[in-house]
Amino acid sequence: MEWNAQNYQKNHDFVFQYGADLLELLPKSSMKILDVGCGTGELSHQMTELGHQVLGIDASPNMIQQAQAQFPGENFQVANALTFETSQPYDVLFSNAALHWITDHEKLLSQFQRLVNVEGLLICEFGGAGNVRKLTSAFQAELEKLGKNYQSPFYFPSCKQYQPMLEAHGFHVHLLQEYDRPTPLKGSEGLRNWLKQFFASDLAALSEVEQERILSEVEATLEDSCWKETYWEADYHRIRIVAEKK
Ligand code: BEZ
Repeated sequence: MEWNAQNYQKNHDFVFQYGADLLELLPKSSMKILDVGCGTGELSHQMTELGHQVLGIDASPNMIQQAQAQFPGENFQVANALTFETSQPYDVLFSNAALHWITDHEKLLSQFQRLVNVEGLLICEFGGAGNVRKLTSAFQAELEKLGKNYQSPFYFPSCKQYQPMLEAHGFHVHLLQEYDRPTPLKGSEGLRNWLKQFFASDLAALSEVEQERILSEVEATLEDSCWKETYWEADYHRIRIVAEKK
């Protein structure tokens, strides 16, 4: 899926705003950091400002183009997290709100094992078990009414599932937690903007009339549970990890 970097920055800036408190988990001394799924580069930039040596990678050329335009002179590269290679491993693998787009975490953790130094850290947060269930269920139900299948592109694990996977890949867990993070989506168009951003490829397969119908029906379904007088609230649930390579 190619991303609309402008819509992402304008309407979904909460993604990197919420990610900012992950930065507090970084060591204070200067580290060589790989920011996996850096999007438009805000958190990579903040880590650079903190004195770290950072490379931001993202599979989306649009996102990387926007990151380079915003933060010229900083290091960004279009790359797939599963196939990215380096001859010099990193001190920290960092990732915010990106890893749930990768469904094969056995492969991802093997890759992380190669990319990080011994005693190096994995510091990340992404969607945990049940993340955005209300939103995805409503969207799936509407797609199915049109005779279309919904294939979730996400992996949202629980701590219970993820701990043994980390350990099997040679990571010692320092912190592993899940928490609900109800997330306001900006304004009365917030829910449809979110759907247009993150379900772009499902929507692209429909006519404009069908797209409009789905967006309105999802809004109608979720009005009671997710409309909060002046904004929409998404049922985000996060898994947060700090683990060290043994
Ligand atoms: C998330 O950050 O949890 C997320 C974003 C878009 C789609 C699904 C989940």
